[in-house]
Amino acid sequence: MTLPEPDPQSDPQSEPQPEPALQPVTHAADSSGAWWRSAVIYQVYPRSWADADGDGIGDLPGITARLDHLVELGVDALWLSPFYASPMHDAGYDVADYRAVDALFGTLADADALVARAHQLGLRVIIDLVPNHTSSDHPWFQEALAAPAGSPQRARYLFREGSGPEGSEPPNDWRSVFGGRAWSRVPDPRTGDPGQWYLHLFDVTQPDLDWTNPQVHAEFEAVLRFWLDRGVDGFRVDVAHGLVKEPGLPDWSAEQELLSSGEDDDDGDDDGDDGDHGRRRAPMWDQDGVHDIYRAWRRVLNTYNPPDAPDHDPALDRILCAEAWVDPLPRAARYVRPDEMHQAFNFEYLQAPWTAAGQRAVIAASYAACDAVGAPTTWVLSNHDVIRHATRLALDSARRTGRGPQGLGATDPVPDAALGLRRARAATAIMLALPGSAYLYQGEELGLPEHTSLPDELRQDPTWVRTDHGAYGRDGCRVPMPWAGDAPAYGFNAAGASWLPQPAAYGALAVDRQQGVPGSTYELYRTLLRIRRDRRLGTGELRFVAGYTKEVLAFEVRAPGRPGVLVLANLGTAPIPLPADARVLVGSAAPTADGAPDGSTLPVDGTVWLAAD
Ligand code: NOJ
Repeated sequence: MTLPEPDPQSDPQSEPQPEPALQPVTHAADSSGAWWRSAVIYQVYPRSWADADGDGIGDLPGITARLDHLVELGVDALWLSPFYASPMHDAGYDVADYRAVDALFGTLADADALVARAHQLGLRVIIDLVPNHTSSDHPWFQEALAAPAGSPQRARYLFREGSGPEGSEPPNDWRSVFGGRAWSRVPDPRTGDPGQWYLHLFDVTQPDLDWTNPQVHAEFEAVLRFWLDRGVDGFRVDVAHGLVKEPGLPDWSAEQELLSSGEDDDDGDDDGDDGDHGRRRAPMWDQDGVHDIYRAWRRVLNTYNPPDAPDHDPALDRILCAEAWVDPLPRAARYVRPDEMHQAFNFEYLQAPWTAAGQRAVIAASYAACDAVGAPTTWVLSNHDVIRHATRLALDSARRTGRGPQGLGATDPVPDAALGLRRARAATAIMLALPGSAYLYQGEELGLPEHTSLPDELRQDPTWVRTDHGAYGRDGCRVPMPWAGDAPAYGFNAAGASWLPQPAAYGALAVDRQQGVPGSTYELYRTLLRIRRDRRLGTGELRFVAGYTKEVLAFEVRAPGRPGVLVLANLGTAPIPLPADARVLVGSAAPTADGAPDGSTLPVDGTVWLAAD
């Protein structure tokens, strides 16, 4: 392939210098055959995907009935956010019974039917596990409330005496991720007087478990087995970096960032000291003790398909994926060392700057960190906790980080929908070319934007209340899916009910409006996924390519024995010419009138895959 000469006229505002310091190879091809090393995994948020019973809240039978959508899209697996019995104070991340399905979502038999149908269709199923905290409705917490200070019932949670006169102040100064204090006081069950305090890093209804207690370990290992025996293929582990707290629960005066490690100990050792930067690790996040928990869990999973057995089949591996908002990347990679979890979400990537240098840096650093421990890198742009990337990428960089449950509201500046969608499509076309495993969030295949004008009185995220309406929270990315542009509730159910109202813009973006439409976001995703699968890009080797201006991200991906792709993403301010002999496989930009991608130029905020056979 002939690379075009950089055109000094094409971008007067920038220096058209070729990028000097490119790593030639940053990631080696994977030939292990383990499905999870390259899988594309689609997150289903059960209350918002498909509603079979018409009550306005999605459910498991609704999901089962729509699984064909995932096959047609071309993904390998689905991850289900929690569907367990719960009072739903945090949309099910407050679990009252880890072995039961909430009646809102169906029954255990419905869960079994979903898994069975998914497997028939060749889809693997990952479920959510919430081990940092239970619901306050969980029988353990109810027993703890009824039991005296110092009792074994209280020892499953983090109950402490208060400080100050008569213990009227919390035991320490920790803040809840959702706003307000991380401690609440309960009455002494014998006298009714104010008694001990318990820790809740999230909502008051989500008491933190005490992971120094062996009963807690035994219970969660039993829960793992319960679901593994029912056939699930893995677990996404909620707040995986939060289970173990620093002994003594020392004060942490720093402002609480959502799920931030709050530290910068990149000196590579395990001593918890302050590294180069004079800061220490937050005492509630990323403590070294969490890793022993995951080693024990890995041993449990391994009993289902022993890795050293002669008949080990990598296609049958069950997996763990860490939700660990930990930085820097080498620190996050500690969760995926060979005897721990299989995957960890790559939140550094989700938060990367929308510049060629920023993207290249995070891609290279991700491979460096994961290659060092022999784990696959994962990629993610959206989930149920962050502003959808079709909106986030239109925000100015200060508001774009994605970290934290801030959300957007009607009083915020209205994001540029066209810009956001253009960038979102380009970002996805970068992501789906990258070797490793990628996570998609429901509705991103439609280019759904965030709902930014939800009426305040309908908001349900506990963040909204706990911050005294200072942060909108995450409802805007959780709005039910549009399946049919002309149907009630856009086909979410037959009744027309929807637990959060869908914005009018969702009608034109509904699945049935995009299917078979050349250039639609849905068809773009299908094409990207098909080529990714045909060329086995997920298992390929990545090589950055020199010769373009510094505003172009250029890399080639090739799997052994397969034709490769050259990916060019123009993150600059002017279109660039494509190589003269370029053969365009797919492009993120809107197609030309005849439906074909433009084969001669790459527009701003566009990504193109060229054949590199
Ligand atoms: C992370 C989950 O993704 C989020 O939705 C939830 O609110 C918190 N953990 C608490 O469980």
